[in-house]
Amino acid sequence: MPKTESMTRSETWNRLSARHLAGGVVSLNRKIDPALVFVRAQGSRIWDAEGREYLDYHAAFAPHLLGHNDPEINAAIARAMNQGWSLMGAGTTPWEAELAMKLCEAVPTLERVQLTNTGSEATAHAIRLARAHTGREDVLLTLGGYNGWHNEVARTVMPTRAQIGPRVSPGEYPWLPLSAGVPEATQHKLHAVNFNDLESVEYALRKHPIACVLTEPVLQNVGVVLPQAGYLRGLRELCDRYGAVLVFDEVKTGFRSALGGYQSVCGVTPDLSVFGKAVANGHPLGVIGGKRELMDLFASPDAGKRVLIAGTYNAHPLACAAALATLDRLAAHGGDVYARLDALSARLQRGLEAIFHERGEPATVVRNASAFCVYFMDHTPRDWHDILEHHDFERDRLLRLALLERGVFHFPMPCKQGSVSAAHSEAEIDRTLDATRDALKGLA
Ligand SMILES: Cc1ncc(COP(=O)(O)O)c(C=O)c1O
Repeated sequence: MPKTESMTRSETWNRLSARHLAGGVVSLNRKIDPALVFVRAQGSRIWDAEGREYLDYHAAFAPHLLGHNDPEINAAIARAMNQGWSLMGAGTTPWEAELAMKLCEAVPTLERVQLTNTGSEATAHAIRLARAHTGREDVLLTLGGYNGWHNEVARTVMPTRAQIGPRVSPGEYPWLPLSAGVPEATQHKLHAVNFNDLESVEYALRKHPIACVLTEPVLQNVGVVLPQAGYLRGLRELCDRYGAVLVFDEVKTGFRSALGGYQSVCGVTPDLSVFGKAVANGHPLGVIGGKRELMDLFASPDAGKRVLIAGTYNAHPLACAAALATLDRLAAHGGDVYARLDALSARLQRGLEAIFHERGEPATVVRNASAFCVYFMDHTPRDWHDILEHHDFERDRLLRLALLERGVFHFPMPCKQGSVSAAHSEAEIDRTLDATRDALKGLA
């Protein structure tokens, strides 16, 4: 690496990336201020290029449920390589067969699955299946949701108040593409309504030929917004009444909420589900699965109905090895890793609540299993609109920056989910609480 004396290591790497990588980062949402460069991770900790250590609650946007570089997962990958697992690209393999079986066992609503590399691929397949099944083309999505980067789902996740205007209910919000280059004709088929708003879902289902309602069951790309009682069941009923396919995007909630996904917590059965992230503890694997009549369209004998699934790297053997080992860990000893995650996350939540209470500061800590978010508002948000109206975004941002200075890494952008991993310790949670107390004093 070319390095001049006056530049820090981070500056040198940033400059090199900026010169050769368009935009300087490989995913738009990785651009952060300060422009940190990370070089190493282990368990609950990450290190930047200057050698500074951080307790990591970003977890690379949530996949590291067991922590970074988990020794058992690493050993499983090494074993797979030593045993000659490779990308065969013909027929099937024992590891695919076993992984498919384990996924269907873990999530009871999965009658059949397919394996991809990413969550985005899985949501693209879900939309295609729904369209092929229903003969309809429109898609209903949730304001404040994120379902990947492809044409059908690339919408602004955190629109401003100016962009969305006053609360709309029942009704739809304007479609706000997150990307140039999405055909107008595609955009006309995409609709967005508020989370926790069944009246608006019904309004859209009446108005448009909706093939599928695709939603995260808990909104975890604008912090953590929980479904209100009856909302997910209501979605199920409306989809049944209007003949639309219900797709739960469990890329973030799956395996982090429970081995059976959030659907096993809420007791609502979607037609299709998609998973990613935690399923392989940080290795690239996506999953789509659900009802047999839908999934079997991937192999329909009727060529006119058959839905294409393809991909050179689908079910990459090293990702399969990671997923098999992750699922084993999550299922081991009656799922006691979830008990540990819950205890750690509850300790963090209780501690944070106590700190804000002591200070008399209005803040609400929302948690879904090991995912959490602090909102600087006096109630649990019910949707993105509510967050926009009541959350103190600037205080959120400043707290994240102050924690960064104290060796605690939260993604330095407001409303980003925090993720506890099984590699965090009680002592680290307590250190995080001390750092938060101190950071808030500094902010006041
Ligand atoms: C809920 C949800 N769905 C889908 C995706 C897309 O997954 P990937 O980034 O693996 O394509 C993400 C990624 O953050 C996500 O949070």
